Amino acid sequence: MSDHRALLLSRIADRSARVGVIGLGYVGLPLALVFEESGFPVTGFDVDPAKPEALQRGESYIRHIGRERVAKAFARGRIAATTDFDRLSECDTILVCVPTPLGRHREPDLSFIRATGDEVARRLRPGQLVVLESTTYPGTTREELLPRFRARGLECGKGFFLAFSPEREDPGNKSFHTQNIPKVVGGIDPPSLEVAVALYGAAMAKVVPVSSPEVAEAAKILENVFRAVNIALANEMKLVLDRMGIDVWEVIEAAKTKPFGFMPFYPGPGLGGHCIPLDPFYLTWKAAEHGTWARFIELAGEINTSMPHHVVDRTAHALNRHGRSLKGSKALVLGLSYKADIDDDRESPSFEIIEHLRAAGAEVAYCDPYIPVARPGREHDLRLSSVPCTPEEFARHDVLVVSTAHSDFKDKRLYAGVKLVVDTRNLMAPLGLGGPGQPGPEVVRA
Ligand SMILES: NC(=O)c1ccc[n+]([C@@H]2O[C@H](COP(=O)([O-])OP(=O)(O)OC[C@H]3O[C@@H](n4cnc5c(N)ncnc54)[C@H](O)[C@@H]3O)[C@@H](O)[C@H]2O)c1
Repeated sequence: MSDHRALLLSRIADRSARVGVIGLGYVGLPLALVFEESGFPVTGFDVDPAKPEALQRGESYIRHIGRERVAKAFARGRIAATTDFDRLSECDTILVCVPTPLGRHREPDLSFIRATGDEVARRLRPGQLVVLESTTYPGTTREELLPRFRARGLECGKGFFLAFSPEREDPGNKSFHTQNIPKVVGGIDPPSLEVAVALYGAAMAKVVPVSSPEVAEAAKILENVFRAVNIALANEMKLVLDRMGIDVWEVIEAAKTKPFGFMPFYPGPGLGGHCIPLDPFYLTWKAAEHGTWARFIELAGEINTSMPHHVVDRTAHALNRHGRSLKGSKALVLGLSYKADIDDDRESPSFEIIEHLRAAGAEVAYCDPYIPVARPGREHDLRLSSVPCTPEEFARHDVLVVSTAHSDFKDKRLYAGVKLVVDTRNLMAPLGLGGPGQPGPEVVRA
């Protein structure tokens, strides 16, 4: 056994190995906390100074990661957060959790991984383990990181260790979180796999070793493609069944009573979040390089991206029945985050719905207790703040469009003075609103 490998394994075993986490966002922050809570010294790195500063004050900037948890961890003194990348050399292991967005032409944007790879390479010292956690196409770890580190004159598997382990974070999930979600790990070589498995095994409930980083990279993409394709199928069923006058939500409830061979997916206003709308296109891009096409993924993308238009069409038709046009109507979109009860608005279809409604001449407001102010993003700048979540505010609008099923919206009293609701999330039926002969607003499914 090489000296470096033996030393790193023993430091992992006695929890003296310092764990560095680069990118303290939705993935990196909980990961850093889990290692700290398992007894490891941890250093978190971010280019955005506001994040380390908030953490050092014991504050959390992610709502579902409570302030108390962050404050407790930072008070114990085993964890630090910084923008000083020179401190990477203090770390025995470095976990990379930086963004992997799409570029303007829906091509993978690896600039964050490359920039981080350069920062790490510049300070790489013998005996360090580097693991990429960001979601990406198969081949990234070997093609982008390995050459950068090798150029330092060290040999992978002896002088340093390199692996890929996908993050499977599901923000807001009450049952599964960073510590108890099984961790798939693929190493560039057997020694890299061994040290990476040892590290994650010391903090996570279950580690699943696979034969290469490419298998681990592809497994993560498959998980996300699976969701994107099944959500597209649910959306297509919605369109078809709607024409037949059949309630897709009731159909899914019935189908899911089958105890085998069926898994429910639900229709909605379109895809949101950092993963499902973006990651499948990492694979289609790489597939083209190999002269092959991922047709299911393209088709799912086409159906899912058409959903915001469908919602706006339904809204226009519904208003029409009330003798109004979209132009000049007051529309209130309920929910800006991409899923219920979290504060993450990335890629949320609500942005597109709001912009399409505005383009048609509607006066649009939004209500989201999780997002008081709509932050400008790469593609959208709404210049809006949330209106209060009250019956008076709701009643001021000609139509409500339910885009996110936040728990805050599940109160029947909010809709007392509302005339029309376009519901993309089946929020109203469980409240006893919108059914035949029921009092309250007219509810249109979209
Ligand atoms: N959010 C999720 O639920 C989720 C789930 C699974 C996988 N992922 C994947 O994990 C990766 C990170 O996603 P996220 O949701 O945590 O993103 P995020 O935007 O919440 O966090 C990324 C962090 O990295 C920082 N950063 C950017 N460039 C940096 C650099 N060069 N050096 C250091 N820090 C840098 C940003 O300031 C930010 O704090 C992505 O590849 C994503 O696809 C996300």
